Amino acid sequence: MTAALKPPSTYEDPIVARHSLDGKRVLVVGGSSGFGRQVALDAALAGADLIVVGRDSAKAHATSQEAGALARGKASALAIDVTDERGRASLVDAVGVVDHVVSTLGGRLADGAPEDDESLRATARSKVEDNRLLMEALAGSVRDGGSFVLTAGSTRRPGEHDGVAAVAGNEEIRELAREKAVLLAPRLRVNAVAPTWTQTPLWRHRSDAEVVAMRAEMEARIPLGRTADIREVARAYLFLMTSGFITGQTIAVDGGYSLT
Ligand SMILES: NC(=O)c1ccc[n+]([C@@H]2O[C@H](COP(=O)([O-])OP(=O)(O)OC[C@H]3O[C@@H](n4cnc5c(N)ncnc54)[C@H](OP(=O)(O)O)[C@@H]3O)[C@@H](O)[C@H]2O)c1
Repeated sequence: MTAALKPPSTYEDPIVARHSLDGKRVLVVGGSSGFGRQVALDAALAGADLIVVGRDSAKAHATSQEAGALARGKASALAIDVTDERGRASLVDAVGVVDHVVSTLGGRLADGAPEDDESLRATARSKVEDNRLLMEALAGSVRDGGSFVLTAGSTRRPGEHDGVAAVAGNEEIRELAREKAVLLAPRLRVNAVAPTWTQTPLWRHRSDAEVVAMRAEMEARIPLGRTADIREVARAYLFLMTSGFITGQTIAVDGGYSLT
């Protein structure tokens, strides 16, 4: 086949090749569980080299081994508490240069707790602050043209439907993405994914019956009539990592929940 007749491949298309994850180094903070684990597995399948971070070493290694077995890329694991200053410093030392950083750092902002619950507010505050400090520590480690993808959450009207602390915490993550997108441009992009209630190990402290009841309650509220498959949420992270002209945006992956 002559060169002129050869169909274009991802390697020949300058737009697709530039935005592919093939051979890219992707750091997933929170990659050992839930959304982060699914992002790590999907990014590995897309050809990325993975660094999986969680506090629990066994869980982080389990995901990195799974990612390594799925694809031909490299995968490694780090057990680090990134909310600790020394932990962030050792993360920066250990990772070297990466192309993309995904962070699912944060806790349960909605848990049926009363909306003025101080612990919920503290979780929301630390979610924003921990992600800010993480980005500040890692910005110098991200290659030009790379990105951060944070994790917000999709909520409805404060007080009326969802707790004030949950709404404010998620809104501040959106704001953080906007603020850092402006500060880090043109070198890096910053975006966020906002899922709504999804069955992940985040709800491990609840009994099976409680999780089933929570899911049924959300299915009744979400316009699309169901909760997300975790892979539907992971897709948004991959989309944002590989969309070179999108920055400062938060994509709600919520079946329309935030519209109601
Ligand atoms: N699931 C939902 O319904 C839902 C809805 C909206 C928003 N969100 C948001 O989505 C994010 C992730 O939720 P998820 O459901 O994927 O939770 P998850 O399954 O509990 O995963 C959390 C991940 O973060 C890691 N992690 C937590 N604290 C860490 C720390 N200090 N240092 C390093 N790693 C840490 C955990 O590792 P270890 O377990 O080893 O600590 C784990 O890998 C959170 O920000 C949450 O607010 C979740």
